[in-house]
Amino acid sequence: MKIVKVQDYEEISKKAASYIAAQVQLKPSCILGLATGSTPYGTYQELIRYHREEDLSFQKVRTVNLDEYYGLPATHEQSYSHFMRENLFRYIDILPENTHIPDGLATDPNAFGREYDELIVSLGGIDMQLLGIGSNGHIAFNEPDNCFVAQTRLVDLNHNTIEDNARFFESAEEVPRQAISMGMKSILGAKRILILASGKGKADAVKGMLEGSVDPMLPASILQLHQNVTLIADLAALSQTTESVLR
Ligand code: F6R
Repeated sequence: MKIVKVQDYEEISKKAASYIAAQVQLKPSCILGLATGSTPYGTYQELIRYHREEDLSFQKVRTVNLDEYYGLPATHEQSYSHFMRENLFRYIDILPENTHIPDGLATDPNAFGREYDELIVSLGGIDMQLLGIGSNGHIAFNEPDNCFVAQTRLVDLNHNTIEDNARFFESAEEVPRQAISMGMKSILGAKRILILASGKGKADAVKGMLEGSVDPMLPASILQLHQNVTLIADLAALSQTTESVLR
């Protein structure tokens, strides 16, 4: 895994956006895998700047998002559909029909997950997948468990994730208990993966991902098996990682 060590969140955002912008310039019809949450927010702000100030066009880009809370309609303020619309899509020239986000109201979420994986294959696979990391080491909503799961499917959110994400809701009780999450097969099928980590709350998970064995109890550790992963992390997120690993 290539590690790009930067000072702070702002630098993560600029660096990540520069990689994504380069991907879009090199292949205007690329498939981008996108994440939500607080980590990619700054990256999306920077991509909006590229669009406005540097004429970066997303007209041919197609996107697939990692996950959606189960039970929330796309119109709900905390849905990931809403997040993507309000923090990226409405400010760039992407065509709405080219954006894909799991349907939080799917009546058969596991059948929906199978179709979502097939959709990704039919698009030609993900060219560049953007990931955040949970404080418990999750990627998408693949939570710590006793095995890795390949398929996109309905998942139960871990208590850490519910607590971590309570900051976006009025209270922890309001955080949905389930989500539809992209599985490991589609994530690891991406040609290139960018994983971002900011802040000391991520430091233990980052250390485990880089230094531990490949273990489903720390889902991000599976990225050790992928050929083309770049971690962009700030000093705080790397504060627990052994110095020699960073050289
Ligand atoms: C979101 C996602 C999650 C987040 C992770 C970190 O689409 O897939 O894995 O990337 O929970 O969230 P933040 O960035 O809010 O710390």
